[in-house]
Amino acid sequence: MALRLHIFDAWRRVARRYGFREYDGPPLERLELYVAKSGDEIVDQLYSFRDKGGREVALRPEMTPTLARILATRSRAMPKPIRWYSLPQLFRYERSQRGRLREHFQLNVDIVGEGGVSADAEVLALAIDATRELGLDETDFAALVNDRKLVGAVLSEVGIPSDRHGGCIAAIDRASRVGKNATAAALTALGVSESAVAELAELLDGGSLDHVARRYRSEPVQEAVGRLEEHAAILGAMGLGEYLRFDFSVVRGLAYYTGIVFELHDRAGELRAICGGGRYNRLLELVGGEPLPAVGFGMGDVVLTELLGDRGLVPGEADRCDYYVAWVEERQRAAGLALGRRLREAGRSVVYTLRDQPLGRQLKAANRAGAEAALIIGPEEAESGEVTVRELRTGDQTKRTVDQLLESATTGGMLDRQTNREGS
Ligand code: HAM
Repeated sequence: MALRLHIFDAWRRVARRYGFREYDGPPLERLELYVAKSGDEIVDQLYSFRDKGGREVALRPEMTPTLARILATRSRAMPKPIRWYSLPQLFRYERSQRGRLREHFQLNVDIVGEGGVSADAEVLALAIDATRELGLDETDFAALVNDRKLVGAVLSEVGIPSDRHGGCIAAIDRASRVGKNATAAALTALGVSESAVAELAELLDGGSLDHVARRYRSEPVQEAVGRLEEHAAILGAMGLGEYLRFDFSVVRGLAYYTGIVFELHDRAGELRAICGGGRYNRLLELVGGEPLPAVGFGMGDVVLTELLGDRGLVPGEADRCDYYVAWVEERQRAAGLALGRRLREAGRSVVYTLRDQPLGRQLKAANRAGAEAALIIGPEEAESGEVTVRELRTGDQTKRTVDQLLESATTGGMLDRQTNREGS
């Protein structure tokens, strides 16, 4: 839970920094929301059942259809572009393995109502920064970028009719998991010629964008290349260019993508994707909304957790609080409780014993609770209205009035260390 919150906090900080607002939806949706919109792979992985009212329902395997459904009824009244994010819990009946579980959380970020390539760059920048926020950098991960339109245009140029493109894209999506031979066999089974299979194999094996631009001269290819170059230039201007890599094999498994697509992967290439997303300009219309262009991504907590563990970036789980209020005798408990209450009202975290315990025990408990300072009330302090502030890291002790304490509590500083040191 500590690690999950660490990841969620980082995700929320970065999403807010980019001006996105958080939303949520129900974890249970009608089955039809996914069928024919997300594609066969995810539909095969659904936890679905018939509810007591006879409705076919499913636990959400992804957030994008829910977002589209919510906006279908509300977007008309909303200023565009809509910048929304969510941290949904998702369920997929997958074979559990490293990086893939049947339950996971995602950061979902989407811009709806802006079709320009700046929006594609904006969400990818956010994905990169959300990963960097956790301590990972360009030596740990890369953003692999491609364009579904480019892939479609190349498939046409190598002679594959458009009604086979969906099948070819699914085969390309599986390429990194099943290997070269199985991919060639899958493409051949779709009726792709031997020469076209060879050309695609070359592209999948690290073909550069330059290579694609020089080899395929059709207008749709050149247009898509121009869009990817503009996308790279925007991210370059943001100082994120070193994260980007063109990769023809990244096509994304979900059916609804229509333009630039991307995934974040660990540099070592050992893990599944950290994050995946892209442009989907027809989904909102498909679920009955106004035809709005959209782009976004989902970043999972599972692969990220693996990567943080490998890089030693998992924070410790130590307890932490601001103050531990302790009393010398039971008689000072009431004064201690009153002090604790005032500090909590001022926004500080406060712990104290729930038993009748000697001071030594309470101070040990204060260390275990991860308190910055113990506030000790004895007969003398109860009389004078002061407390003894004992900094637990240094052992420094000083007397403060409750008002002085509250002053430092409300101004946000832990304790005013300067005054403290002078006092000790
Ligand atoms: P997705 O590629 O299916 O995209 O999932 C996005 C990310 O969620 C993956 O890269 C992975 O990190 C994580 N993930 C997916 N399935 C699992 C699993 N079974 N166990 C652990 N982690 C998993 C989508 O879901 C799209 N709806 C993203 C999107 C938003 N596109 C546009 N907007």
